[in-house]
Amino acid sequence: MRILLLLASVALLGACRAAAPQDPAQAAALERERAFAICAGCHTVHAGGINRYGPNLHGVFGRRAGSLAGYAYSDGMRAADIVWSEQTLDAFLRSPAASVPGTRMYNAFPDPQRRRLVIEYLQQNAR
Ligand code: HEC
Repeated sequence: MRILLLLASVALLGACRAAAPQDPAQAAALERERAFAICAGCHTVHAGGINRYGPNLHGVFGRRAGSLAGYAYSDGMRAADIVWSEQTLDAFLRSPAASVPGTRMYNAFPDPQRRRLVIEYLQQNAR
């Protein structure tokens, strides 16, 4: 009986570990992934990923706004004189419509911490 209890608590401990990673790097990666989850509904990030409602974001840093071949951008995005960087992404995500008038991306992300996590996610997963 005692050994069973011991085994059960070891199993429980293992389950807790899986839910909340102890490794800080792993925990930070999970936080970034969670922040990006809403974007992932509309955007893939890996090389050659499909365009969803929004374009694939692989290689977005250094890319001209509205320039991915094969994606039907709004006129506003095609006309935007923007090259994507940490700064231009931050401004766009804070207020897409203010940054790119006429854009079809309507979600704004007012929380600066959230934008930072999303941009870090892209730096690590979209290059
Ligand atoms: C509801 C769907 C949707 C969500 C959610 C969304 N986007 Fe978009 N995104 C779009 C669409 C549609 C476009 C194309 C806009 C246009 O052509 O005007 C776009 C365009 C972009 C572009 C410009 C890409 C290029 O090739 O110039 C970037 C960068 C971007 N989104 C990043 C993000 C990030 C980061 C998030 C999450 C914080 C996000 N988007 C959330 C739909 C979405």
